[in-house]
Amino acid sequence: MKILMVCLGNICRSPLAEGIMQHLSDEQGLGWEVDSAGTGNWHVGEAPDRRSIRAARNHGVDISKQVCRVFRRSDFDEFDHIFVMDKSNLSNVLNMARNDTDAQKVSMLLGDKIVPDPYYDDNQFEPVFTLIEDGCKAIIKRLVE
Ligand code: 4NP
Repeated sequence: MKILMVCLGNICRSPLAEGIMQHLSDEQGLGWEVDSAGTGNWHVGEAPDRRSIRAARNHGVDISKQVCRVFRRSDFDEFDHIFVMDKSNLSNVLNMARNDTDAQKVSMLLGDKIVPDPYYDDNQFEPVFTLIEDGCKAIIKRLVE
């Protein structure tokens, strides 16, 4: 199973989602491959935001080696499922879909709820970690059963 996590900048939320989902998959021996990308290109080539790195490290997840990249159309071919953080990510990604097969791979990580962008609020990183962790666990339950 190949999973792609997508947000706007690929430095705050989707790196956490990649790290958490890869960690859970490894822990449970699922053999999933997880990656992340952003719809914006401002931070390409950079490591995740230090606040995301810290929040992840506090929970035993190392995301410090990740490198920011932009979402590309070929990701629809490479991945089985593409999870986005909010409605704006959803429309950005769906706008790049070529057909129904592409579009059907895309959904919000939390279903009908959003993962808020923590970029402008240092205090949001810890709650965002928990939201994403809960979302990842629910997805594993759904896809594995
Ligand atoms: P992310 O947060 O989408 O969770 O990575 C953001 C990080 C940076 C920017 C926007 C959102 N930015 O505009 O640089």
